[in-house]
Amino acid sequence: MDFNLSEEQQMIQHAARTFAREEILPVAAQFDESGEFPVDTIAKMGELGLMGIEVPEAYGGAGLDTIGYVLAMIEISAACAAHGTIMSVNNSLFCNGILKYGTEEQKKEFVQPVASGQLIGAYALTEPQSGSDASRMKSRARLSEDGSEYIINARKSWITSGPVARYLVLFAVTDPEAGARGITAFLIDTEQDGFHRGKTEPKLGIRASATCEVELVDYRCSVENRLGEEGQGFKIAMSVLDAGRIGIAAQAVGIAQAAYEASLAYARDRKAFGREIGGFQMIQSKLADMKTRLEAARLLTLRAAWAKMQATDSGSRFTLDGSMAKLFASEAAMWIAHQAVQLHGGMGYSKEMPVERYFRDAKITEIYEGTSEIQRLVISRLETGLR
Ligand code: CAA
Repeated sequence: MDFNLSEEQQMIQHAARTFAREEILPVAAQFDESGEFPVDTIAKMGELGLMGIEVPEAYGGAGLDTIGYVLAMIEISAACAAHGTIMSVNNSLFCNGILKYGTEEQKKEFVQPVASGQLIGAYALTEPQSGSDASRMKSRARLSEDGSEYIINARKSWITSGPVARYLVLFAVTDPEAGARGITAFLIDTEQDGFHRGKTEPKLGIRASATCEVELVDYRCSVENRLGEEGQGFKIAMSVLDAGRIGIAAQAVGIAQAAYEASLAYARDRKAFGREIGGFQMIQSKLADMKTRLEAARLLTLRAAWAKMQATDSGSRFTLDGSMAKLFASEAAMWIAHQAVQLHGGMGYSKEMPVERYFRDAKITEIYEGTSEIQRLVISRLETGLR
């Protein structure tokens, strides 16, 4: 077993760390406060290849591997989890799915501008009444009489990057009698007639990542812009989420790392009862547990990335690895951020220090791309073979 990173992996880690520290960290608190979408830093991330890390260079990406993607996500999210969210949806939920299931024309038209960061992509699965139970969606698509296009009527909620995205991968029911096998995926252009955006959600954390509802009213999608086969949509949605969950695990590791490093520095610096608080056993115990959970989360996440790379080669699934990484890393991030606030005392509750932001940002990693409860369901179903 070799834990060393390749030269390419070290390069992307270094590039992402340098950019995150020099360009994102100085503005992270300001964007968290304003809730504005960070247009300039995201554009620069596109120029650096961070918006399509695993996308081949021929389609505008950096052509690197999943481990490289995870390493970069950790660095960006340690500086600002909102940037991590935007990066993750662009990379995993948008580009990956089209690369895996799309036609050559779709890759050129939809992946190329999004992977290069000129445009933003989004993923529309969730609906107001169906979140965890994703296959119960109400959005409908029906083929026109001449068979050349689908007419889509849909309402989707919690769409990350929805307010700014040019393109969406959207899921709708084409055969209401067929359950999960009656769902189809479509590539949607938000500049076309019939597409509408709802209000932007005010959120607890990752506030600079824009989230909104979207509605499609008699939107006409050409048959050429259907992603995969009719009825294959739910499997596409799930397999895309398998990869997405590794990205969210990496985001959680980044937040946890930032919370741990802030705590370590504070424990060395802050004095109480005549000495550095890091010298007290209660603080030492916290730091030891934070560091151990952080590194365990990192290993599980890197192992999931490795499993995805093996699966890409062999065509097998890596669902279990992705779910375990997301479950463990997101709960570790929440726990570590909680300890970080406590360790900082009153300063942990103040907006003058970044730990209260880490605490708010960590929470979403236990919710989106499948809650912790859904990850436990996926893991136990795969382990027991029972449903
Ligand atoms: N890969 C490929 N196929 C899969 C799969 C996977 N990972 N998981 C399931 N399938 C297939 C099954 O094999 C089955 O196929 P057959 O019909 O051929 O047997 C079919 O899909 C249906 O599977 P299930 O019966 O297991 O489906 P279910 O209705 O019981 O749902 C679930 C399973 C795990 C609960 C799923 O609905 C789920 O993951 N829910 C959570 C949804 C979620 O993560 N939402 C996040 C929204 S996106 C988001 O947050 C993005 C953002 O903005 C950041």
